[in-house]
Amino acid sequence: MGLTATNLPEGDSRKDKGQALSSSPQREIIFETARLQLVRANLIDIPHFVAVYCSQVMMAHLGSPFSEEQAAARIDTWNTQWNELGWGGGVVIDKNTQASIGTAKIILTKLPDYLGSHEVGYMILPQYQGNRFASEITGGAVKYLFERARAQQIVADVHPDNSPSNRVLQKLGFLNQGIKSYNQADFPGYDQQRIWLLTQDKWKADNKT
Ligand SMILES: CC(C)(COP(=O)(O)OP(=O)(O)OC[C@H]1O[C@@H](n2cnc3c(N)ncnc32)[C@H](O)[C@@H]1OP(=O)(O)O)[C@@H](O)C(=O)NCCC(=O)NCCS
Repeated sequence: MGLTATNLPEGDSRKDKGQALSSSPQREIIFETARLQLVRANLIDIPHFVAVYCSQVMMAHLGSPFSEEQAAARIDTWNTQWNELGWGGGVVIDKNTQASIGTAKIILTKLPDYLGSHEVGYMILPQYQGNRFASEITGGAVKYLFERARAQQIVADVHPDNSPSNRVLQKLGFLNQGIKSYNQADFPGYDQQRIWLLTQDKWKADNKT
């Protein structure tokens, strides 16, 4: 089924919200890097979220693909988190082409051993992979968290077999904390994770000029 802002049932409050947001020429920018922006998601992004989260290939190391409803619900969840808590996720935009190339999140982690720490995550669609986009948006997220959100440490979790993703974190200076088996409510079936950690002190030391 193709969920869009315009085929939601009449009277569904999300429909009005979607129409209002989709007619807005401006996207709310969370932060930007040389080539990319992270922007707040809205209902016009449902097809993009379906492409990212309902694909077997994209979700190969994250349990099983979402249903279209689950993918769309992620937009609402993130926007609620932004409005109520000041963190969430968004759409990664290529500034040059304005294409939506993936998603990224900056949240407070639910990983039991790291409660109170921030967490980053990223997804880049296959046609845009291999351009160091994940490294760039995650580097921007780290900078945003340490400089603007005053985070003390940032955690990330990656399936041990997800080599490109593990590499992204290693390149950014995250330290490998070993493999855990946390139950991830948002990603059923994603039952083994390598944990990566970056403290503000290490980041500052690594980025001293
Ligand atoms: C993981 C993912 C975000 C990487 O996106 P990307 O934009 O291609 O990543 P980058 O180009 O910034 O960096 C990838 C790095 O991994 C390396 N790499 C790619 N394939 C690799 C492999 N099979 N083994 C080892 N390293 C690999 C790249 O060479 C690059 O490192 P380098 O800069 O030192 O050359 C993307 O593959 C993706 O979205 N996958 C599906 C969703 C997912 O797994 N997200 C992460 C959840 S934890």
